[in-house]
Parts: sequence; structure tokens; C-alpha cells
Amino acid sequence: MAATTAFAQLKLTSDNIDEVLKAMTLEEKATLVVGYNEYMSSFFTGGDNGMLGQNADRVPGAAGQTQAVERLGIPITVLTDGPAGVRIAPTREGTNQTFYATGFPIGTLLACTWDQELIEAVGRSMGNEVLEYGCDVLLAPGMNIHRSPLCGRNFEYFSEDPLVAGKVAAAYTRGIQSNGVGVSLKHYAVNSQETNRMECDEVVDQRALREIYLKNFEIAVRESDPWTIMSSYNKLNGEYTQQSRDLLTTILRDEWGFNGIVMTDWTGARDIAAQLHAGNDLMEPGMPSQSQDVINAVKNGKLDVADLDICVRRLLEYVVKTPSFKGYKYSDKPDLKAHAAVTRQSATEGMVLLKNEAGTLPLQGTPTVALFGVTSYDFIAGGTGSGNVNKAYTVDLVEGLTQAGLKVTDDLSSYYKKYIAYAKAEYDISRAASFWDQLGSVQAPELSVARYTIDQQALKADVAIVTIGRQAGEGGDRTIDGDFTLSALERTLLNNVNEAFHAQGKKVIVIMNIGGPIETASWKGLADAILLAWAPGQEAGNSVADLLTGKANPSGKLTMTFPVSIMDIPSSRNYPNVLPEVASSEFSFGGGKPEKKNVDYTLHAEGINVGYRFFDTEGVEVSYPFGYGLSYTTFAYSKPTVKATRTGFQATITVTNTGSVAGKEAVQLYVAAPSGGLAKPAKELRSFAKTRLLQPGESQVLTFDVTNYGLASFNIDTQCWESPAGKYQVLFGANVEDIRATGIYTLSKAFSLQAHDVLRPNRDL
Ligand code: BGC
Repeated sequence: MAATTAFAQLKLTSDNIDEVLKAMTLEEKATLVVGYNEYMSSFFTGGDNGMLGQNADRVPGAAGQTQAVERLGIPITVLTDGPAGVRIAPTREGTNQTFYATGFPIGTLLACTWDQELIEAVGRSMGNEVLEYGCDVLLAPGMNIHRSPLCGRNFEYFSEDPLVAGKVAAAYTRGIQSNGVGVSLKHYAVNSQETNRMECDEVVDQRALREIYLKNFEIAVRESDPWTIMSSYNKLNGEYTQQSRDLLTTILRDEWGFNGIVMTDWTGARDIAAQLHAGNDLMEPGMPSQSQDVINAVKNGKLDVADLDICVRRLLEYVVKTPSFKGYKYSDKPDLKAHAAVTRQSATEGMVLLKNEAGTLPLQGTPTVALFGVTSYDFIAGGTGSGNVNKAYTVDLVEGLTQAGLKVTDDLSSYYKKYIAYAKAEYDISRAASFWDQLGSVQAPELSVARYTIDQQALKADVAIVTIGRQAGEGGDRTIDGDFTLSALERTLLNNVNEAFHAQGKKVIVIMNIGGPIETASWKGLADAILLAWAPGQEAGNSVADLLTGKANPSGKLTMTFPVSIMDIPSSRNYPNVLPEVASSEFSFGGGKPEKKNVDYTLHAEGINVGYRFFDTEGVEVSYPFGYGLSYTTFAYSKPTVKATRTGFQATITVTNTGSVAGKEAVQLYVAAPSGGLAKPAKELRSFAKTRLLQPGESQVLTFDVTNYGLASFNIDTQCWESPAGKYQVLFGANVEDIRATGIYTLSKAFSLQAHDVLRPNRDL
């Protein structure tokens, strides 16, 4: 009698997970491993997915939930996108209250700060909004490798280099999770394109996989203990990542020690027995039929209940950590003002000054500016799709410059503003309110400005600013013509502004408001200064103005290479829709044909030749190298030291501000390996650090720790991580082409670490 009462009252606590697991029925387990939220789940069942904010989910507009098992005190938990802030519906039925979230800078910009402490601080603010808006997990960071500039979602991701991507993701995760909410590292793994992302098979050799496409996740897992990871849509070497035990258990858990949950990206039903057996604990967004599939799979012997229990136990361990479980009383009122200040400041740190002839910047005094380019007036704060945040406002350049005390020529402004209003109205009328449209923000096409008008502006204004804008987003990759390259209209505009303003002895500044690299080599000569502003979040215009006026000093550096031509990049020969042989109508978004195509990273000497690893090793000229970025001051590097430690080496460098204004410097530590082991890139980034704000004349010693494991390459013949014995050159760089000081590390005994022989590419598929 007493036992029955106790059973009836059993409620989950952090101490009774075993007991609760034992008490769960098969139906309850099948409920827990499948998410459900009305807004997203109905989309996958072909129902009306409704409009944002018009549904019964606990946090309207949030991307997903885990389900409750009320009998056992297991609550719903709420999962929300990411990565540039909390993506929820800004309005709700029955209340006038708004639920805007802060639009923080895109991931790429954050990475370009090279400042792990700053990124952690941004994460702390973002995580506070997750908590105060009643959510438990932010579906972020996005951290796939920038394999090609053409990937439509690169703006959400960090770098072409796995160390940068991993360290930045770890800092972001630590910041978010310091609030007692979780992250979801995504998209694990090798989700390098949007084209046919649901079906495409990414064929990657084991070395490139280990060193480039998994290393970023490995670093983040080892250094930040993320609560969750999101398995990607695509296949990897023949198998859906969501169904790959090698990927989700052998590598992720057995090798790296991950102990959180894996959830699917927002997929329809797949082979659920295979998913659970692989270690994919949670299906999102989830449909009731998937729970039935679990029950059937157990009953007909396709799924071992022991496999199911492992996933359920991990879910229970997750649930007890969440604010929802702890009954946190969220306010729905995060401090948006304070977070706007964080956004404004952090954005200035990741913008990259690419060119500054004859001290064009910072602007002196309060000049009158002629602002060209539609995005000057409609600045792109972030990308579209699930990475788009419903923010209350975006500060454009007119507002930013005006607030900084500058003047903008009114006639040009009103010309552009009228055009933008007209173009947007046209667009709103003509487009259907499709699913993707709801997730986007509309950009007006570039406007043609008559030469006569430009000449007039050159008489009135002291300086010209031309903003080149590029919207990118989920659900599609970028094109080469008019996206990677300038459009004919943009070229004409730049040429005319250059001629007209230079004829008057006035300067031309280009602001790049973009999410990923564009071609710059052919036109950079037309500008006196170029500021790469990325998509800097909702304080955009203020952040740009802070740099243009010198209130802040640029300190961002590129975390990717800007090539001269798209065809210089090895992946371009293998990337969808670049060359005719890899272009196919089968590569449409989402519904790729079952007999699919694969994208083969092993062809055309691609492999590990991603970004600077290729350009630097082969000596191929670039437009701007990896790690590049200017400042309004200059820095000297001195007194390099390298000393062996128990596990590798520690290096230091003294950085001195040798200019006349305060500034920060990001230093990159590259290592060139001795011969004797595997063929390696000429040098590889093994650590990085950034100074604090150094006053003129001030110095700081930066310290870098590198392990022998961190130096290792993956040998597919032995399936070992290996670092040969010998002398390693330690190179302190301002960028990959600008090495300022060197040291030597001697490894007396070769390092080797055995890994599992898994995820071989299957060429017969
Ligand atoms: C995206 C994920 C996102 C999820 C939920 C998917 O389409 O790929 O990044 O977190 O939707 O919105």
C-alpha cells in the first residue's frame, strides 16, 4: 500500500533519476525523446504552421520544446534560436507587451574580435535574455567551418580555421551557460552548404574530417561543457549524421567526453531506431507519429530498450539542470538597454579596417557626408532565417552619423529613403507570406544614381561613404555574380563616386555590410578607406560611427581569407552550383532527390586545404589574408619566449603600442612543423590572444599555451594523432602573411595518440 502511494507521488529530482527512469512507461519514454511544439511541429506534418506568436506554445515563436511527463514532474523545456540573440515572437495575442530581443552581432563578427573574454561577456548578456524570456536552451552557436564563402549561413559561423571556431564557440558557450541555461553547438557536422542540405552526402577523408570539420566541435566540447549539440541535416560519408553512432557516440562521447544531449536539427521523421541507437537523444521539432515509431521499434525488436534508456537518462539529466525544472520565475523583461550597449561596443571590436590610405580615417571634425548605397539607409543588422532576431530597431548609418555630430546631405538621403520605401512596399505587395519570408528582412535592390547627382554631391559634401550590402541567410547559398562579385550597378556607382569626389580632392570610404567575403581585388583601389562592418547587430550605425569618428579604434581581424577570385579556392571545384559538373537541379533546397548527389571534398586536392592552409602553403596571392586587420595605431612585437611544459610549450610575446592613440592588438601564434611526419600546411594557427586597450607607449605580455596534441595531424594509415619529434618554428603573427617574431620549440620524443578508425568515406555510394 505504502509502496503504491510512493510510486504515485514519484517526482523527478536531481537525485532520483534512476528511480524515475525505472518508473517510466514505454509511452512516457517515447514522449520524452520526441519534442513537440505547435508552431514548428505542424510545419513538418504539413499542417498550417500558423504565424509567429499565434500559438499555444509556452514561449511563442520559440523553435522547439521538449515534452512534459506530468505524472513524474517532468516539465516542458523551451529551445529557442540563436545565434545572434533570442529568436521569439515579438508580439503576443491578448497583450500589448512586446517581447523584442537584442539583435547582437553575427557570429562571424564576434569571431573577428579574436577576444574570448569579450565573446564570453556577449554570451552572458545573450544568455540572460534566454533566461528572462523563459527559455532553457539557445540553439547556438553555429560553428560550421567556412569551407567556401558561398555558404549562405557563413554569417552565423565563425571561421575557416577550426581553432578559432572552437575557441570562440567555447567562449560563447561559457558566457551563455553562466546564466544556468544551455547552448546547442550546431550543426554537427560538416554542414558546409545550404544547397540540398537535407539529403546531400558530404564525402570527406578522415584527415580533413578530424583536423578541420570536427576539430572545432572537439575544442568547444572539451573546453566549455555544452549542454546540448545539434546533429545536422546532411549525410556524412554515406550516413545521416543523426544516425551515425560513430559520430555521435564513438567520437563525441567516447573520445571527447561529451555528456550532454544530442538533438536533431529540425527534421521530419527518419529512422528513429537508428537515431536513438546512434546517440541522438532528442528528435526536433518532433511529431506524435515519431513517438509511435519509438514504441513500435521497441515492440518489434528494432530498437533495444537499453539504447532508449540511455537517451532518456541523458534527457532527464538535462531536464533537472533547466530553469523550467527549477521553476525559475522569468520576468519577460531583460535589460534591453544594457544589452544594446554591449552590442554597440562589441560590434566595434569585430569590424575590420581593411584599408586606410593617408589617414583617411578617423574622420576629422564633423564633416558633411554623402551617403551612397541602399544599405546605408537600411543597414543589415543580421542574416535571415532561423538566425534572424526579432529586434525592436536597427540604427542605420544616417542615424549613427548624425548622433555622432556629423552631417549627411539631405537631398541624397531623401532620394534613397523614398526609393527604399517604394521598393519595400512593392515587395511586400508582390510576395506571398511564405515561411521563409516570415524569417527574413527585405532588402531593396541597389539604386542607380545619376552621374550628375554624384557630381553635385561631390561639391556639397566633404567625404563620400558607399555602403555595399549583402543579405545572406538560411535556406540558400550565395551566387557568384552580383553577390560574391559586385553587380554592374555597384561598380558604376563606385567608379563614379571615386571620379567625382577625387576630382574635388575628397575621399571615398567603402563600408562593407556583408555576411561573408566578397570579391575586393578588382575595386579596392577605388576607395581611400574600407571598413568591413559585417552585420553588426541592432546598434549598427552607432557602432560604425564610433569607428569612423575614432571614438573607438578598430581591432578586428579577419577569421577567413578574402581571395582574389572564387576559383582560387580549392573547394570551388567541388562546391554545388559553381562549375557545370557540380551544378544540378537536384540541388534544390530541402527536397533533394532520394538518389541525391554527393559533394566530394576529396577531389581537386581539397581535403585539408581550406582557407589560409591552402593560400599560404601554395603561395597563391589573396586580396586580404587570414588574420588581417588595421588599426589607427601601430604595434611592435618584442622579446618572444618559448619554453617547454609538461604537455607542450608556453610562448610569450611583448606587444607595445608604438602609435599615438590607444588600441588593441590580436596576435596569432602559428607553428611550422619539422619535416619527418605527414605533409603539413606551411604553418597552422595553434593559439591566439588579444591585448587589453593599450595606451600609446604601453606594453603587455601575451601568453600562449600549446599542447603536443594541439600540434598534431591525423594520420589515416595509423589512425593516430601524430606530432613528429624535431624543431617547431613558433611564429608570432599580426596576420598569416606578417610574422613579426619567431621562436623554436623542440619536441624530443614524437607524440602519438590512437583514435578510432571510423567514418571512412564510402566511395561506392
Ligand atoms: C536550422 C537550425 C535551427 C532550427 C530551429 C533549422 O532549420 O538549421 O539552425 O536551430 O531550424 O529553428
